[in-house]
Amino acid sequence: EASTEVDLSAIQPGQAIKTIYRKQPLFVRHLTPKEIAEANAVPVSSLRDPQTLAERTKPGKAEWLITMGVCTHLGCVPLGAGEGENRGPFGGYFCPCHGSAYDTAARIRQGPAPRNLEVPDYVFRSDTKIEVG
Ligand code: FES
Repeated sequence: EASTEVDLSAIQPGQAIKTIYRKQPLFVRHLTPKEIAEANAVPVSSLRDPQTLAERTKPGKAEWLITMGVCTHLGCVPLGAGEGENRGPFGGYFCPCHGSAYDTAARIRQGPAPRNLEVPDYVFRSDTKIEVG
């Protein structure tokens, strides 16, 4: 199936956009230094689905968080990218269906979702362009 190109050049620090990949929502987020620091300050062993921000981003590109916009509980689209600026108590994304809250690395922190938002396969084609899939 076709891959999806995303132009990053217009996405400002602190901004997240929602686009579409394989007919599902895809979140592309430009993390601020503060959001990166918040993610890195969390003890990984305390997490339900233990992963570091570095494991969820590309080397040297920690400011670009690319995830599916599909809650790992029952598949609702969390708020916090594009429309819906409620990012929840951990500052990442918030699923309004049953209250799953994700942090600035899109890791599950509260609520019923079992796993972090999925990071799809992607590559950087340039500093301002990724190809997903
Ligand atoms: Fe997101 Fe249930 S589908 S919390």
